Amino acid sequence: MEELIMISKMSFFLLILAGLLSSCGHHCEASFSRKTFVKVDGSGYGSDRLGSPWTSKSRSDCFFSCWTHYSSKCQTFMYNSDTGLCTPGSFLKAGTLGTQLAPTSPEGDLFAPSTCDTSDGFEYITSANVSACINVSSFILNANDAVAYCFNLGAHLFVSRSMEKVDLLPHDVKLTVGLSDEVSEGTFVWQDTGDAITDDLKTLFFRAGEPNNQGGNENCVTITPGTNNPSGNDYRCLRDKYKFVCERPVLQSAS
Ligand SMILES: *[C@@H]1O[C@H](CO)[C@@H](O)[C@H](O)[C@H]1NC(C)=O
Ligand SMILES: *[C@@H]1O[C@H](CO)[C@@H](O)[C@H](O)[C@H]1NC(C)=O
Repeated sequence: MEELIMISKMSFFLLILAGLLSSCGHHCEASFSRKTFVKVDGSGYGSDRLGSPWTSKSRSDCFFSCWTHYSSKCQTFMYNSDTGLCTPGSFLKAGTLGTQLAPTSPEGDLFAPSTCDTSDGFEYITSANVSACINVSSFILNANDAVAYCFNLGAHLFVSRSMEKVDLLPHDVKLTVGLSDEVSEGTFVWQDTGDAITDDLKTLFFRAGEPNNQGGNENCVTITPGTNNPSGNDYRCLRDKYKFVCERPVLQSAS
């Protein structure tokens, strides 16, 4: 209730919030409460801005208004407790891409989810030592459209630095993942951070003879998890359509 009282001072936000709560009631409140944001400590993380910053009276106010404006797309935010600056952000990125935020940055601290946001059909799946917050599509899209679809849910295409993590996916379904060599032919990079797949993993990941860039035009990647591993394949990003996996990074398992 404290957050609501603070927000009531800003009638603009209150109006939007009231509309939102009344239009979807307990369902929306439930999906909202599943977002647990924590401050991201240390450098090496960032996110992409979703739009221009505004001023909020508190961190929770910033979080409410980010979610109100951007819904699921809001997966991180930056808040400066001195100036009240509130900057909406997309999914958390580890590594050198995205907006790197030092604690002294005018944009303040970066906050990101520490639990899987299970709205929009996302599920937290774990095995012995890997986990992921994912949604497997029930329909097919080309790779570019799949990237955009995931982005609108505050997610990127599934990335994996181990075969254990690939094994979290449903078996025997051909699925587009967040790996491509569109930027530099022959160098396959993960969509979240832009780092290249290691040679060791590449050997396990791809089917024999793949990736082969057939026709000089295959830059996106599917994998078919299961007994026929390794079964990765490169294909034409715009022309071919497959089911795909969206992933929302969670701070404690951002690999
Ligand atoms: C993915 O999300 C959609 C809703 O957005 C849901 O209908 C579907 O069942 C989810 N997929 C899985 C495998 O749970
Ligand atoms: C998971 O555990 C297995 C052994 O149980 C190990 O071989 C593997 O490297 C671990 N994977 C990760 C990603 O830590």
